[in-house]
Amino acid sequence: MIDPQLKAQIDPARLPQHVAIIMDGNGRWAKQQGHLRVFGHKHGVKAVRSAIETATELGIGYLTLYAFSTENWNRPQFEINALMELLVNTIEKETPTLMKNGIRLETIGNTDQLPKDCRQTLLKTVEKTKDNDRMTLILALSYSGRWDIIEAVRNISKRIQSGDLQPDEIDETVLNSALNTAAYPNPDLLIRTSGEQRISNFLLWEIAYSEIHFTPVLWPDFGVEDFCNALLDFQSRERRFGKTGEQLKTP
Ligand code: FPP
Repeated sequence: MIDPQLKAQIDPARLPQHVAIIMDGNGRWAKQQGHLRVFGHKHGVKAVRSAIETATELGIGYLTLYAFSTENWNRPQFEINALMELLVNTIEKETPTLMKNGIRLETIGNTDQLPKDCRQTLLKTVEKTKDNDRMTLILALSYSGRWDIIEAVRNISKRIQSGDLQPDEIDETVLNSALNTAAYPNPDLLIRTSGEQRISNFLLWEIAYSEIHFTPVLWPDFGVEDFCNALLDFQSRERRFGKTGEQLKTP
């Protein structure tokens, strides 16, 4: 539940349609408390829940969370196992809440690489929630922007090879529709926690015109207020999409 005073500051007519989040800082948060990194991931789930609740309450249409990157497979096996277990348990536990709140779960990424129980749990919840239409929650799992672009290029090449497409016909629409994110609008706002100011191979194609909000808050501490502050920051920006400020003022 968002504090009414804070909520009143947000212009409901100028909300981002799609927010994407790089949830960073779980490990550092755990270390600060004298615990193992996995402890940070466990607390990160609370922040995931809070972000989903906030986005749903405000009426944001799409929320994409970078939960596990292609590069995260290089982490110690113990940490990978713990993250996968956390994912399965959280999805199983939260599916009734997703149903109650009209949230559709979808995934992007090379989910074939995930452990079988993880894939099955995800598939079950994706299928169960597919008719929900209040908000789409997209989990990026075994995902990277470069991986998706390479997959898209492979698919487009196959279409050319089969004569279905001519090289000259390749344009933004063709590439867009070959990406895992084809069904979603591009993110209007990208948030990264933990003070790091980089993109880390997330939605590379899709964030061409996204506003980016960096915050020093570590992911497990990222609460309703932090999300609302990111939205207020977003609403303070002028999105020009390559045009001049003057052009935007003339209808
Ligand atoms: C980054 O912090 C976080 C991750 C790689 C995993 C995020 C996973 C969760 C929040 C829990 C499960 C998610 C869902 C959707 C149920 P880091 O480990 O890179 O932190 P550091 O930069 O401080 O080391």
